[in-house]
Amino acid sequence: MLLPLAITFVVILGLLIIPGKTVAPLVFTSKGTQKRLFALINLKPKQTFIDLGCGRGNLLVTAAKHYGAKAIGYEISPLAYLWSKTNALFSGRHQNIRVYLADFNHASFPTAAVVYFFLLPKGIAKLAPKLKILPAGTRIVSNTWPIAGWTPMQVESSNPSAPLYLYQL
Ligand SMILES: C[S@@+](CC[C@H](N)C(=O)[O-])C[C@H]1O[C@@H](n2cnc3c(N)ncnc32)[C@H](O)[C@@H]1O
Repeated sequence: MLLPLAITFVVILGLLIIPGKTVAPLVFTSKGTQKRLFALINLKPKQTFIDLGCGRGNLLVTAAKHYGAKAIGYEISPLAYLWSKTNALFSGRHQNIRVYLADFNHASFPTAAVVYFFLLPKGIAKLAPKLKILPAGTRIVSNTWPIAGWTPMQVESSNPSAPLYLYQL
């Protein structure tokens, strides 16, 4: 009786977290911050929007559905990946949404208008050298924590507990 429960618990935990690889907990950008983000980046149809650690894929769906963008997400947690894929599938815009079950540190990103992430400072620091070599003009937005050593072109801090740091390469 207890064994199946324990196995289920361990499997779910394993699906949520890949030990040693994940650089952010499974929390999501709030609706309010999502609105602030899209107002900040002024995404245009057919532009590419990337979410590094896309969680349940809500931002990808918004980018594709409401802004006509091509949305790409990378997600390391199998459960979150499936959540994103399901969300994309039912969005009515699945042809414009790609979700990869992958560690973004080992992925090569296509050229994008905007690269977004909501990660912990340690994960951002690891990612920074990879961001630095993206094409000139790429805009990068970090939710809550800045990229250490970089100067943002704008900080949207109307919600002081979730500032958005906007950088342009
Ligand atoms: C704080 S959540 C943000 C989710 C989503 N971007 C949002 O803003 O709602 C961070 C996500 O990044 C994922 N993640 C953490 N490290 C990762 C890595 N190295 N590669 C891909 N995804 C990762 C986590 O599994 C989690 O879903």
